[in-house]
Amino acid sequence: MSIEYNNNECFIDGVPVQKIAKDYGTPCFIYSSNEIYKNFNEINESFSNEKRKVFYSVKANPNLSILKLLADMGAGFDIVSIGELERVIKIGVSPEKIIYSGVGKSEEEIIRSIEYGIYCLNVESFSELQRIAKISEKLGKITPVSIRVNPNIDPGSHEFISTGLESTKFGINLKNMVKAFSFANEQTFLNLIGIDYHIGSQIESLEPFQEAIISVKKIINELKKSGIKIDLIDMGGGLGINYKNNKTPTLKQFGSIINKTISDNDLSSYNIIIELGRSIVGNSGFIVTKAEYIKTDSEKNFVIVDAGMDNLIRPALYGAWHDIQPVIRSKEKEILYDVVGPVCECTDFLGKDRLLSVNQGDLLIISSCGAYASSMESNYNSRLRPPEIIIKNGKAFEIRKKEKIEDLFSREIIL
Ligand code: LLP
Repeated sequence: MSIEYNNNECFIDGVPVQKIAKDYGTPCFIYSSNEIYKNFNEINESFSNEKRKVFYSVKANPNLSILKLLADMGAGFDIVSIGELERVIKIGVSPEKIIYSGVGKSEEEIIRSIEYGIYCLNVESFSELQRIAKISEKLGKITPVSIRVNPNIDPGSHEFISTGLESTKFGINLKNMVKAFSFANEQTFLNLIGIDYHIGSQIESLEPFQEAIISVKKIINELKKSGIKIDLIDMGGGLGINYKNNKTPTLKQFGSIINKTISDNDLSSYNIIIELGRSIVGNSGFIVTKAEYIKTDSEKNFVIVDAGMDNLIRPALYGAWHDIQPVIRSKEKEILYDVVGPVCECTDFLGKDRLLSVNQGDLLIISSCGAYASSMESNYNSRLRPPEIIIKNGKAFEIRKKEKIEDLFSREIIL
């Protein structure tokens, strides 16, 4: 969603951003619940039916209130750690609505998820299959598993988030796939229910998703030849959002084309799951930050703000672009600035070469911070994590308190 201006003042869902900054301080995260409802409904209506379900990928934004909001709308959950598992359980989600992905599940994590009785573990290697089989036997439980294959598809995204390429650590490659499925199929304590893949994130066209479905159809045919039957296909997530003139498909277009490709490839009898993160929450979130200093006596002009790479690492990590606007628009002349944080790193920038009219003390708002912003934050430079606020029914609610100094070293021991 984009922010709205009324008399040159920025609002989110009718609430003045300046007022939120005054009440909760800066930097702070603000989310629009309307946007999350809208996105989830759009994909749910265009994709879901008895056999097709939308799961939310918790890593995009794991705040308990956001998870609860999605759970109430009927989402399932894709998790990648015991921490994410316990978050989802904490808000009362039934374990059959949880799928566990990730290349490095520890013994403790596997035991916990088997004890809860989650829907499925997505397995990414032979040694993981062996480990799960052994633990299941010890616990006397039969564990449902899917195997993540690596279809070697280029999603056309940033190389750091192109997970469906054979050169990455993810999934089992096509060469070893039949062997892995056969192995899983033979294990008494494993129930092989499905195939899984996730080709990447911030994918901006529909073709890679279609290509992946066609590739999975071929894999399933090959498995059939070896007498292996599955009934679940987990297609992962990855749909991109509009950060800056990205011509991304809508969730509705995505849902319809996935459904069409499923029918065209004769896969309608399978249970199908998609695991979306960014496209559900990405554009619902913002960071509000204050200009601490204006520095115009260097080679470049800098606005030094009170948010940094500890709150939003995407520009530093992927060269990502997030829109930055003043909360109160002024008529003063705009000049080019790099918007940078207080962290002691040259990579601590939030936006480069932005035309802004800004003075010391002014508030700026950074867009598209609903996904992979707060979830990737850190305490680098011993900076405190900011509060998170959500707008619901025209009112602002705090859904995470600002960290306190004592939280910072509460687990440290002075020798
Ligand atoms: N399923 C699996 C197995 C995943 O690994 C991911 C994301 C998703 C689903 C959800 O993908 P989404 O729909 O959100 O694209 N930090 C990066 C993004 C990393 C994505 C990791 N996996 C960023 O800020 O762009």
